[in-house]
Amino acid sequence: MTKPETALVTGASAGIGRATAIALAERGMKLVLVARREDRLAALEKSLQGKAECLTVSVDITDPASLEGAIRGLPDGFADIDVLVNNAGLALGLGNAQNADWNDWSTMIETNCSAAAHLIQLLLPGMVARARGHVINVGSVAGSYPYPGGNIYAASKAFIEALTLNLKADLFGTAVRVTNIEPGMVGGDSEFSLVRNKGNAESAAKTRQGLATLEPEDIADCVTWALDRPGRVNINRIELMPTAQAPGRMAYDRKS
Ligand SMILES: NC(=O)c1ccc[n+]([C@@H]2O[C@H](COP(=O)([O-])OP(=O)(O)OC[C@H]3O[C@@H](n4cnc5c(N)ncnc54)[C@H](OP(=O)(O)O)[C@@H]3O)[C@@H](O)[C@H]2O)c1
Repeated sequence: MTKPETALVTGASAGIGRATAIALAERGMKLVLVARREDRLAALEKSLQGKAECLTVSVDITDPASLEGAIRGLPDGFADIDVLVNNAGLALGLGNAQNADWNDWSTMIETNCSAAAHLIQLLLPGMVARARGHVINVGSVAGSYPYPGGNIYAASKAFIEALTLNLKADLFGTAVRVTNIEPGMVGGDSEFSLVRNKGNAESAAKTRQGLATLEPEDIADCVTWALDRPGRVNINRIELMPTAQAPGRMAYDRKS
């Protein structure tokens, strides 16, 4: 029997990461569940009892020393990560770039870009050495289609897409696979909109009102589908959006 694969999922305390952890548990994988909210991780671990061996790691991934300590301190049995689901991420604010708050921008860059890259830097050497691994990044359609107010969030997701395709180039000749999943609007128990609206539940609800959004489970399906392809197949990118969503039209500022 080959040993069960071990996956590390960031952002496992809510939304897409939580749904992905559940889907991977159902696949019989061992899980390292990462997020800041320990209580949420503990509740997820409890709900997965009997399905998957889990380890919860409560860490702020934007703190490089804590992140490195957490990864290097993974105990035997969980230390050899085969699948990294780089999912934790956020958007903050909806305004145009000319009105941006630097703290919002730097938090998005640190979370969506730096921490995701740091995790890859920490885990990729082991995957290559063991000739077994898959890095699955969660990007966004925002990385491909600009929209007003997208600014740094959208740019951070373009970074993740470019990083994924560049990893593909670097990993040529190894057995390690890499995939970028690029969803459009996701609802369900995702807190993305609440976070973007800085905790204003009314504004957050308005964004999704009357819309049949994607569900977190739809993104988890993409993760398991990419993983389940035969080893000869690398899924480079998966872009998906709700049927009820489309990229914006070009805008024209007519002066007359
Ligand atoms: N929802 C959408 O419409 C949508 C669309 C396209 C792409 N995405 C992308 O999908 C990913 C997941 O989004 P989601 O919709 O599932 O959002 P979510 O429900 O808000 O979940 C975000 C997760 O990231 C974790 N996280 C955030 N900052 C962190 C930090 N500094 N350290 C550790 N964990 C951190 C959160 O956990 P804690 O707060 O407990 O730390 C939470 O588990 C993000 O990368 C997002 O950009 C979302």
